[in-house]
Amino acid sequence: MKTKRFNLAIVIAIAVLFIFCTVTKNKVGNTSLQKAFQGKFLIGTALNASQIEEKEPYASKLIPQQFNAATPENIMKAEIIHPAWDTYNFDLADKLVAYGKKYGIKINAHNLIWHSQLPPFVRRITDADSLKMYFEDHITTVASRYDGKVYSWDVVNEALNEDGTLRNSIFLQKLGPDYIVEAFRLAAKAAPNTKLYYNDYNIEQPEKRAGAIEIIKKIKAAGVRIDGVGIQGHWHMNDVPLEKIEESIKEFAALGIEVMFTELDLSVLPNPTGRPGSADISQTAAYNEKINPYTKALPDSVQKKLAQSYSDLFTLFLKYKKNISRVTFWGVDDGQSWLNDFPVRGRTNYALLFDRNLKPKEAYYKLIELAKQKQ
Ligand code: G3I
Repeated sequence: MKTKRFNLAIVIAIAVLFIFCTVTKNKVGNTSLQKAFQGKFLIGTALNASQIEEKEPYASKLIPQQFNAATPENIMKAEIIHPAWDTYNFDLADKLVAYGKKYGIKINAHNLIWHSQLPPFVRRITDADSLKMYFEDHITTVASRYDGKVYSWDVVNEALNEDGTLRNSIFLQKLGPDYIVEAFRLAAKAAPNTKLYYNDYNIEQPEKRAGAIEIIKKIKAAGVRIDGVGIQGHWHMNDVPLEKIEESIKEFAALGIEVMFTELDLSVLPNPTGRPGSADISQTAAYNEKINPYTKALPDSVQKKLAQSYSDLFTLFLKYKKNISRVTFWGVDDGQSWLNDFPVRGRTNYALLFDRNLKPKEAYYKLIELAKQKQ
């Protein structure tokens, strides 16, 4: 009799375990961001070296499951890929290309020309001829190597000031305002099989948006190829400029190019600089406890607000899915986010869809649900 009861208990235990696993698996396993938005727009993430080299098993499973596009957060920037005049480090970029091929993930290479994260030898250049030599050699060497291997390039990144005028970068100073058209001309020649984008933050704001539109029109007027524009999307969950974003989608789409949201994250922490949301890395501020309120965990009320802000934003994206080709989150999980150290070092932010244990947050499930409703 005892044996029968024991066997029955075992059978029941196995049945319960099976049901639990099935439910849990269905909760995450069968769905994913890329599946939910399939046929609407690509869903991407920024990848760091450890993720590209698949050093962490769980992340290595989660990333290809959730995303069908990826942007290297740092490893293809000039300071890393071109550290000295005649030295190029292609190892990690080659691994990224192989990673994309292995998982069928479209790689958006980032970036060819940017005033930040330049190698020291470029920062030391004082004459125009030397900078022109660097400019031409860098774009041609890097873009031609990855032509057809990466899906797209952020050719020029953040060339504008907030008022829509051109940022006074070393490129503007030494090469003049046509450096942007020339960058796209060189990239198009070196990479005929790769899409070419202009990428910037705050270009949903009218003045800066006007500057971006002027850049795009100038490139097109010169008969040079530009395929899309990236609105970075570094916003705050309490201040997502939905109306300006909608205006921007319409105005950029009217230029006949792809519209993308390329570095999306929604900070939940107080903005210590007092200035509107920005990704201007020159903006920093001093640490104090008041501006780092969630060191232990994120209160449920804030989690819900974040989820709602993401849902409102994606409702807008889905309204314009015919114009939007990609939405990329600037990182996989909260622990990876640059916002833990910007504009203040050492804070605990919660800006993305996966928590520090790589588990989906409420915002993730809200977006999956939204996508199902809008099928
Ligand atoms: O790799 C070095 C490491 O060896 C060293 O020990 C450490 C010391 O601080 O620095 C490490 O380099 C850091 C690098 O990220 C890699 O982690 C740099 O200090 C740090 O400044 C750099 O930050 C990156 C930032 O661009 C630089 O401006 C962020 O990860 C990256 O998310 C951020 O991304 C930019 C986009 O490219 C363009 N749009 C704005 C966006 C946010 O600034």
